[in-house]
Amino acid sequence: MATPNDLFEKCRTWDDAKKVQAAGVYPFFRPIAATEGSRVVTHGKRRVMIGSNNYLGLTHHPRVREAAKRAIDQYGTGCTGSRFLNGNLVLHEELEARLAVYLGKESALVLATGFLSNLGGLSALMGRNDVIYSDRENHASIVEGMRMSMGESVRFRHNDMADLERVIKLTRGKYEGAMIVADGVFSMSGDILNYPEVHRLGKEHNCRVYVDDAHALGVLGPKGQGTEFHFNMPGSADIVMGTFSKSFASLGGVLAASEDVIHYIKHKARPFIFSAAMPPAAAGTVLECLNIVEEEPQHLENLWKNARKMAREFRRMGFNTLGSETPIIPLLIGDDLAAFAFSQKLYENGVFATPVVKPAVPDGCALIRTSYMATHTDEDLDYVLEVMERLGKEFGIIGNSEREEQLRSLARHHFGERAVAPRAAAPVTAPVTA
Ligand SMILES: Cc1ncc(COP(=O)(O)O)c(C=O)c1O
Repeated sequence: MATPNDLFEKCRTWDDAKKVQAAGVYPFFRPIAATEGSRVVTHGKRRVMIGSNNYLGLTHHPRVREAAKRAIDQYGTGCTGSRFLNGNLVLHEELEARLAVYLGKESALVLATGFLSNLGGLSALMGRNDVIYSDRENHASIVEGMRMSMGESVRFRHNDMADLERVIKLTRGKYEGAMIVADGVFSMSGDILNYPEVHRLGKEHNCRVYVDDAHALGVLGPKGQGTEFHFNMPGSADIVMGTFSKSFASLGGVLAASEDVIHYIKHKARPFIFSAAMPPAAAGTVLECLNIVEEEPQHLENLWKNARKMAREFRRMGFNTLGSETPIIPLLIGDDLAAFAFSQKLYENGVFATPVVKPAVPDGCALIRTSYMATHTDEDLDYVLEVMERLGKEFGIIGNSEREEQLRSLARHHFGERAVAPRAAAPVTAPVTA
């Protein structure tokens, strides 16, 4: 029997974050006073931003800013209600029509955030006798969407298709409907889902396939259309989810699928029905980003040029990048406190990047997650490389063969063989060009 106590007692006694603050290495909630996207001003100093998801650098594009202002002039600043009732704009429907074409699907639905899109899509579709097969590194919003749904979930080892096949064979017979759900680009390790194999297994075992392309939209494929396009398999996933909070310089999310599926979700997804609509400026922003992606290929080209340069240089220095293949390039540090201290030193040296610690990564596998933008200049990147190399040596992460070997075996143990593949000279995967 539990003993009644004060619910708030834990708030008073929980001190994990306070200890990190007291050590002077707390890396969260740094207030940004001014920003041009790739550089920010925090605590009175300019720093190179390598911790954002603004892959195409479009948050400050003049056409995008103008589009956001035009949307405000036409529709005002907010929708003040759910799309279901009073908040549905012609602008939302225009955006959905554009996104359906862009993503190669019959239909699309835009929601207020990416998180709500996963909550809404998964909870609406998965019934009591259904199952989700979920990659262990899937984003928290997928995990919460599964928890909210009536169905069950079975996890498989990260991007491990033999393990996915094993769990499907073991359990598929117990359920009615089934869906394989995975990120297209994994947000921490930066690797790309083995989508062709997921698709094959889905077909073979009568499982639908749902890809969360939050970090793939604007990044993979000839025009940034995402994972299916990267593998030259457009239209092959049953559902694609995306967010506008990264490459599309805004806020909001999208689910794209067949007309039937979108119609169903639209009338069943409580996070869509009972939450206010994406604001006009956000929708106008995304529409203009879609125009820019069509008309200005240089942003995607620059993004990959920058990502390739950074991956090549970090690997040459001896950093372990967990086999990243995208503009998300993690640097394996080891224990949490070292990652906090490393991030703090970066910050003091004018580089803004945040650490990723447990439970977001396995215990002892803390990272500095770095990510690159189309608008980083060579000067920005060379500066980051110089600081990283100096601090990497100071912290004994690189330039110490024993430590490098320890980190390699840690990476192999937790992230598999691909995390330690000898890629020193190999470029990160280039987007498939048409
Ligand atoms: C893989 C993935 N899915 C979903 C989301 C949620 O998107 P949003 O920021 O639009 O809520 C994120 C954001 O971090 C993400 O990385």
